Amino acid sequence: MKMEYKHVDIVGMGPGNKKYILPEAMDIINASDVLIAGKRHLEDLSLPEKVNMEVESGLDNIVDFIKGNYENQKISVLVSGDTGFYSLLGYLQKRLEGIKLKTTPGISSVSYFMSRLNMLWHDGVLVSLHGKRTDFISVVRNNPKVIFLTDNKYTPSKIAEELVDAGIEGKRMIIGENLSYPEEKISTLSIREAVGYKSEKLCVAVIMNE
Ligand SMILES: C[S@@+](CC[C@H](N)C(=O)[O-])C[C@H]1O[C@@H](n2cnc3c(N)ncnc32)[C@H](O)[C@@H]1O
Repeated sequence: MKMEYKHVDIVGMGPGNKKYILPEAMDIINASDVLIAGKRHLEDLSLPEKVNMEVESGLDNIVDFIKGNYENQKISVLVSGDTGFYSLLGYLQKRLEGIKLKTTPGISSVSYFMSRLNMLWHDGVLVSLHGKRTDFISVVRNNPKVIFLTDNKYTPSKIAEELVDAGIEGKRMIIGENLSYPEEKISTLSIREAVGYKSEKLCVAVIMNE
């Protein structure tokens, strides 16, 4: 029987470890014909019976594929962490106008990290340096708790370097790498110690007053 679908699922995958994927998200994944996700998530899930499409194959590709196939295949786009926090959702909403998207939340890398530190985060300021530079110097200067998403270019070391150059040192930086995975690592450093720190690719950091 030919199936007809009326929406595309956008599913939050949590920080990475399968134990942190919500059961509801897993049900949607299991019911899907096509999974569109980053290489890391597709490899971790390892579901060869699904059509797997890597986000790294190009966003135009993905948009065209969804437009051409969403009515007769159940397509899910899997994003890291939570769907509402710096995910592909915003981009897909713009490019897939007219197609219904249904989001299912996930545990954000920030939420997971704060929980590992037993730390409240409603009083933190969130800054993403993933893919783009924002002016974080004044944010750190003026706020006692600033939580960063980082990337290969804006690593904790690079952030610390710019803070030292701006004369901001009396704070500590806590770095969370590969969160939720067996190789998870959490380190607390002074800003100066963080200069030159070699971090893993998957990394968040919080900068706090001493
Ligand atoms: C495009 S953003 C997506 C954020 C995601 N929507 C969330 O809620 O966590 C990707 C960034 O999230 C952070 N990240 C995601 N998973 C992580 C993990 N397991 N450990 C450390 N940082 C992680 C890193 O800063 C990474 O560069």
